[in-house]
Amino acid sequence: MSDQPDKPFLQIVVCAAGVAADVGKLITAAQERRWDVGVIATPQGLGFLDVEVVGTQTGRPVRSAWRSPGEPRPTRPADAIAVAPASFNTVNKWAAGISDNLALGVLCEAPAMDIPVAVLPYLNSAQAAHPAYRQSLERLRGMGVLIGSYEPHRPKAGGGADRYRWEEALELLAPKLSAPA
Ligand SMILES: Cc1cc2nc3c(=O)[nH]c(=O)nc-3n(C[C@H](O)[C@H](O)[C@H](O)COP(=O)(O)O)c2cc1C
Repeated sequence: MSDQPDKPFLQIVVCAAGVAADVGKLITAAQERRWDVGVIATPQGLGFLDVEVVGTQTGRPVRSAWRSPGEPRPTRPADAIAVAPASFNTVNKWAAGISDNLALGVLCEAPAMDIPVAVLPYLNSAQAAHPAYRQSLERLRGMGVLIGSYEPHRPKAGGGADRYRWEEALELLAPKLSAPA
């Protein structure tokens, strides 16, 4: 583990969505803006990532499981959180207050701890058409969460990775922080 206390700490949360394997793009963009970066993956998200590569890039192991009671906290508190990619599933669970994995536990607490959070959903238009999804976004906005602008892709049409703007997470967070963006 390599804390860099002279830098602000960005916690990236990665869900099990199609573009997750490219999260290195966001890590690079954040590091270029002088963020110290850590990654938490959802349990399903772990399978969408090369955890060795991501761990090497950030200098910290990818986390996914809760620590055991009594174990020290593995990282310092986040100065900001970027949820990218955010899945339909995690957006809805988060908005509903479900905290059944480490990523959701961190997300459910963050707004009330005044930690700025930007979320970049990556999902298809059939998922986005579900009424629960619109309500979830409204609820998260009401909690102060910043939502990315990705327009959902057509189902079964290959996705929209080419127009998924990872840097948007940093752009959304910038006005909320005194840190560089
Ligand atoms: C190959 C594959 C790609 C997927 N891509 C997406 C996606 O882009 N967006 C999404 O919301 N769900 C996607 N899913 C479904 C999620 O993986 C599934 O809902 C999962 O439970 C999400 O878990 P998480 O929210 O805990 O990460 C995909 C599933 C598979 C098998």
